[in-house]
Amino acid sequence: MDKGFTLWFTGLSGAGKTTVSSRVAEELKRRGHKVEVLDGDVIRTNLSKGLGFSKEDRDINIRRIGFVCHLLTRNGIVAIAAAISPYAEIRRENRELIGDFVEVFVSCPLEKLVERDTKGLYKKAIAGEIDNFTGVSDPYEEPENAEIILETEKETVEESVAKVLRELEERSYTKAAPDDGYSEEDEKKIQERLEALGYM
Ligand code: ADX
Repeated sequence: MDKGFTLWFTGLSGAGKTTVSSRVAEELKRRGHKVEVLDGDVIRTNLSKGLGFSKEDRDINIRRIGFVCHLLTRNGIVAIAAAISPYAEIRRENRELIGDFVEVFVSCPLEKLVERDTKGLYKKAIAGEIDNFTGVSDPYEEPENAEIILETEKETVEESVAKVLRELEERSYTKAAPDDGYSEEDEKKIQERLEALGYM
């Protein structure tokens, strides 16, 4: 059985948690891992349905996601969480519960997020139409010891994904797929050479 681990994405709304985590999930599946993604927006439609955005409700949400990650991780599955998870204390609790825990801080300056405003929520939050909006009228405690920091205003999605995978490889949680690094042309040359040498 593969070793399970939790890859925990934290960061402001719109910073890129969903985009990067889903791409990392695809690649890990391609490499043969069993992967489950727990995305805040999705979890709030089922497991955490009915919860709001007070500190109490966010803590319940993050503890629930952490508990499911714990169950998956101990069964050899890669659990990928992508929720704002604004409070350092609850992230630390989850880290302790899970053990094999790799934290990814998806960082992006607030000005950039307000400018992008993909969901139109920052505009509403600034106008006072949404209360307790993280980064605008509610706290976000930046991680101080994240294993990986992504700067999504400077990096392409591909660069961020590669950074995460490289770190997971260094920690021996995954191995690059055996066919990685060779183009089709290279493969052909290697094949021909092996044949010429009588190995194939
Ligand atoms: S968390 O704080 O409990 O981790 P979670 O990641 O599940 O948050 O949900 C965040 C998503 O809810 C945001 O991406 C946004 O779409 C939506 N949302 C609605 N209201 C708020 C709010 N007040 N603060 C932050 N996000 C909000």
